[in-house]
Amino acid sequence: MSAAPGAVPAIAVVGIHGHGAKHVAHVRDLEERGLARLCALVDPRPQVDAPAPATGGAGEPRHGAAATGDDVPWYPTLGDLLSAPEADVRPDVVVLSTPIHTHLPLASTAMRAGVDVLLEKPTTASLAEHAELVAVAQETGRLCQVGFQTFGSHALDVVARAVADGEIGEVTGIGAVGTWVRDAAYWARAPWAGRRRLDGRDVVDGVVTNPLAHAVATALRVAGATRSQDVAEVVVDLHHANDIEADDTSSVRVVTADGTRCGFGLTLCAPERTPARVLVLGTRGRIELEYEHDRIRIVTPTSDLVKTTTRTPLLDDLLAVRAGRARRLACDVRDTGAFMRVMEAVRTAPAPRAIDPDHVSWEGEGDARHPVVDDVAAWCEAVALNARTFTELGAPWAVGAVAPAR
Ligand SMILES: NC(=O)c1ccc[n+]([C@@H]2O[C@H](COP(=O)([O-])OP(=O)(O)OC[C@H]3O[C@@H](n4cnc5c(N)ncnc54)[C@H](O)[C@@H]3O)[C@@H](O)[C@H]2O)c1
Repeated sequence: MSAAPGAVPAIAVVGIHGHGAKHVAHVRDLEERGLARLCALVDPRPQVDAPAPATGGAGEPRHGAAATGDDVPWYPTLGDLLSAPEADVRPDVVVLSTPIHTHLPLASTAMRAGVDVLLEKPTTASLAEHAELVAVAQETGRLCQVGFQTFGSHALDVVARAVADGEIGEVTGIGAVGTWVRDAAYWARAPWAGRRRLDGRDVVDGVVTNPLAHAVATALRVAGATRSQDVAEVVVDLHHANDIEADDTSSVRVVTADGTRCGFGLTLCAPERTPARVLVLGTRGRIELEYEHDRIRIVTPTSDLVKTTTRTPLLDDLLAVRAGRARRLACDVRDTGAFMRVMEAVRTAPAPRAIDPDHVSWEGEGDARHPVVDDVAAWCEAVALNARTFTELGAPWAVGAVAPAR
């Protein structure tokens, strides 16, 4: 079933390959349920099976096969869509799932055109860009939700309640552990992948700021830090085993404004991918949140409980706020300021250090080839438990890391 134009919010997805395909599928799902309408797709690259455009003028819709095989108007740029004369392609909401360095210009353009935005994480490429985006949201009064989907997880409420009820005693620290695997195909998929800068623009695409950015943002939120002023100090220790400019194995310490110490041990060079975890460490136990699965484990001397919750997708949450059914966005752009303090520390840090090849083994072939750093999972855990960096802890591959040529 397709909703009648105008009856439900019209949603355009910008950036339809890669992660954007999931957004297209989700809007399709909302459309099936009569809650939204997929009004247009935007990407310089058309859908794989799209026919050659019949007309080429800016603003003219070109119809291509959408992800589900339907015929949805496709535009090469957001500007083309917003200047299109056809009323039924005009979006109420855009989902922006494009490279990091395009986030500020695209989100600003959309909001200035009166369109609400779901913007993929990381919010922007720098703290100054974040401030600019917040200013545009303020000035236009548009909604700008950022794609940290764990902020829509009801598991966060369970964690907050357990902490408030003193289930693990006094909180002594917050940690995050992310031990994932990314192979050669991942780094080769786009020119901006693994870059700190591209064509004179900040990109900052490393483990801390992109694949495991959710670990950072969620841990900070659990620590009570959402706005940039909630963060007092950030120390980053960046390394890479892949032949990339950015970091793929990093540790971060954050001290929040109220003095909570946080340690994040994050790698894309683990022997196997395990669920990323946020840890709340207490005097009488700990809480582990597997944020990808909305799964909470509360361990105390007398019990070991596991709970799983549901989550509200961020687009659904945005639509609820638009419709007045919810009061505030789950992940308002302003609430990503604390994360952006970490992003800024990564952006302005010295170049990541290459890990000595003697501490790296390579697995897989061709596109599936990926590095494994010695004992990296254990070192990431130690970072989270102690809020100390790899270098401070004495990880041999961090202490002896090779400084990049300048
Ligand atoms: N929330 C999550 O779990 C999650 C997961 C993966 C990626 N992401 C985020 O999604 C975004 C996209 O990541 P990706 O890995 O899919 O990237 P990608 O490079 O694989 O895909 C980006 C898409 O955007 C298109 N594009 C590039 N510039 C554009 C422009 N100016 N206008 C319109 N389209 C444009 C590209 O052609 C491509 O189709 C990033 O911000 C990334 O961090 C979020």
